[in-house]
Amino acid sequence: MERIISFTLNGRSVRVTTDDRRMLLWVLRYDLGLTGTKYGCGAGLCGACTVIIGREAVRSCSTPVAEAAGKRILTIEGLERNGRLHPLQRAFMENLAFQCGYCTPGMILNAYALLLRKPRPSRAEILEHMEGNLCRCGSHVRIIKAIETASSAMRGGAR
Ligand code: FES
Ligand code: FES
Repeated sequence: MERIISFTLNGRSVRVTTDDRRMLLWVLRYDLGLTGTKYGCGAGLCGACTVIIGREAVRSCSTPVAEAAGKRILTIEGLERNGRLHPLQRAFMENLAFQCGYCTPGMILNAYALLLRKPRPSRAEILEHMEGNLCRCGSHVRIIKAIETASSAMRGGAR
């Protein structure tokens, strides 16, 4: 059913008029122009489309936009502050934790949700949390290292 749906996106209030059964991924990419959220499998299996709703990582390809109504959504475009990259973004760059970069927004936001919940995760906890995010370039080892780097930087007061 078409209706107006309001939510907070990267700190700004937005309203979209859309069929409330459409997936959030398409509203973000096509209606709102935020193409940092990627389309991978479209079936909840790869994590490329991960965004944060509230404090949780969700797969926007499998989340009807109606579920975003009234909530706070964070996409990769909203992670930097005043021109400064988030420690996770810096750590991914420092550790060369990507090759093509297609999986990177979803990786970073899934890691962001983990560090919100658990600022000092063990390597085993990182591996378990990131298990469902796939990287076809095989960057997993450097991705895990980057998350450890960011965790350390954030606890040191970087942000
Ligand atoms: S595109 Fe959403 S999980 Fe793969
Ligand atoms: S860096 Fe290419 S898919 Fe992960």
